[in-house]
Amino acid sequence: MCGIVGYLGRENCKDILLDGLKELEYRGYDSAGVTILQEEFANFRSVGKLDGLVNKMEDFQVEGFSTGIGHTRWATHGKPTEDNAHPHYGSFTHIVHNGIIENYIEIKRELLQKGYSFTSQTDTEVIVHLFEEKLKSSETNFEAFQKTISELDGAYALLLITKDEPHRIYFAKEGSPLILGTDFENGEQFFASSDAPLIGKVKSVIYFVDGEFGFVEGERVTLYNSTGEIEKIYSQLPKDREVAQKEGFRYFMEKEIYEQFQVVSDTLMGRVLDSKIDFDEFPPELFDGINEIKLCACGTSYHTALASSYLFERVGKFRVSVEFGSEFRYKNPLLTKDTLFVAISQSGETADTLASLKMAKNSGLRTLAICNVDNSSIVRLADHSLLTRAGIEKGVASTKAFATQMVVLYMLSIYVGKLRGNLNVDEVLKEIQTLREIPNTLQVTDDLHEKIKRLSKRYLHGHGFFFIGRDIFYPLALEGALKLKEISYLHAEGYPAGEMKHGPIALADPELFTIALLPKTILYEKTKSNIEELGARDSTICVISPENFDLADDFIRTKPHNHYMLEFFEMMLVVQLLSMEVAIRLQNDVDMPRNLAKSVTVE
Ligand code: F6R
Repeated sequence: MCGIVGYLGRENCKDILLDGLKELEYRGYDSAGVTILQEEFANFRSVGKLDGLVNKMEDFQVEGFSTGIGHTRWATHGKPTEDNAHPHYGSFTHIVHNGIIENYIEIKRELLQKGYSFTSQTDTEVIVHLFEEKLKSSETNFEAFQKTISELDGAYALLLITKDEPHRIYFAKEGSPLILGTDFENGEQFFASSDAPLIGKVKSVIYFVDGEFGFVEGERVTLYNSTGEIEKIYSQLPKDREVAQKEGFRYFMEKEIYEQFQVVSDTLMGRVLDSKIDFDEFPPELFDGINEIKLCACGTSYHTALASSYLFERVGKFRVSVEFGSEFRYKNPLLTKDTLFVAISQSGETADTLASLKMAKNSGLRTLAICNVDNSSIVRLADHSLLTRAGIEKGVASTKAFATQMVVLYMLSIYVGKLRGNLNVDEVLKEIQTLREIPNTLQVTDDLHEKIKRLSKRYLHGHGFFFIGRDIFYPLALEGALKLKEISYLHAEGYPAGEMKHGPIALADPELFTIALLPKTILYEKTKSNIEELGARDSTICVISPENFDLADDFIRTKPHNHYMLEFFEMMLVVQLLSMEVAIRLQNDVDMPRNLAKSVTVE
């Protein structure tokens, strides 16, 4: 996810910006850049790690007062190239921006007609040209800035500097985080998109909220919102860097569970349009002559593949098969060229998935990667790739990567269904409406988390856990069981609820804990009977459902929804939180569980 820094003052602007960007590295990025304004602008940008940018700036010196802005970019619109890296610039203005400008195509069209030329494929560049255009009809830079941001739809945290006011930084926030730290004694101002770069530099900060904008000059802040000029109280900054990176959460895993609603919005942005799904990452011809999609992955990513196979067949009405990377590569599979091979991987480095992708390519299949890390081996090898935009995931047990993969595959199933004429207009609209509701469903409420925290104390022992569900809730049961075993080290298995009577039910007794996924919108009565069968054999049962279940020993109530995918995402939150709370009570290292690695580059 992109990061922003800014500085105004007499200290070494270059070092401060580069240090700040270093602190933001943990969020992930694929290019970086800095602009410093003294007499003239100096702009440096480079692709890849920060070292490249540091080398480019080696001979550049800052003397005396200066103003600067910096950025780490995680590509969304346009590839990770130097031209697409921030800061973007016009004739006399430079800008850095986090978020996505949804109406950038319309703005760009108008600016092109007015004679502006663009050097990047980004949505951000429109802002800088729009500002210079607005200036023609404004008395002041601030008026032009106000007019500019009032025309932007979407999410942004942005910093703008312009040549005739070298002692000022303009800022605005809507939907993406932005923080200002002020050193009153030395008249210095520091901006950042999260706490980490500000620690050690300032003690008091302003956390801007949506709709706030203004400018800083010396130690003064001029701040506005829709009601006019406002005063804002400074808050204390956390002292510890790792604490700051965790943003108040106990573990990275917890933070990543909580930020799922935000990253899923990023995943959807620009791809979900009013009546269709749009991917500019590949042409529709990718599907010409394709009769089957083969999904291949490992671990949690395999669970996404399996879950989405229900969507491809039910929503997209398209044939799919699902493969474990470690099995596929050695089974001498029969591959035909009417198959699209889709490799799914959070890290993009998993050895078995990578080897399977190589095999598919060598057999002449068309290939697509669904991945969270741009420029990873899998992304580089595949013909096309869809990035999941989850931001860097630090917890070894995957959470937000799973959620964003699911959303990408859900979008792809609708895309394919529409492309092949398998979905009518109303069906497409219904699925699009559901996609738009997913981020809200992913908000963790205090009530839900508190309930799970309390309940977790009853699940710290026993001889095993069954996670059960039907249909797409079966792969979710597999994922719930994997999460629990990874971080609690308790034995857990996922099963289709209907399979119990074919063997596993022999294990049922009070020390066998069943975590039952009981959605209301799909196969409710069938799943309920399967849970009752286990209850009758005295298994201890925890039911997750929007409907009361009198025979349950424990019950976690989810909200009623009108689509099974909304139930799916809410139940996903529940199993993630439950696994985490059990592991915390067992005093395990939730972020770094024993024997596991974040990127599995060996087979
Ligand atoms: C579980 C987990 C692993 C990975 C698996 C594949 O929480 O993270 O099961 O899903 O190792 O990794 P990627 O998705 O990077 O290919």
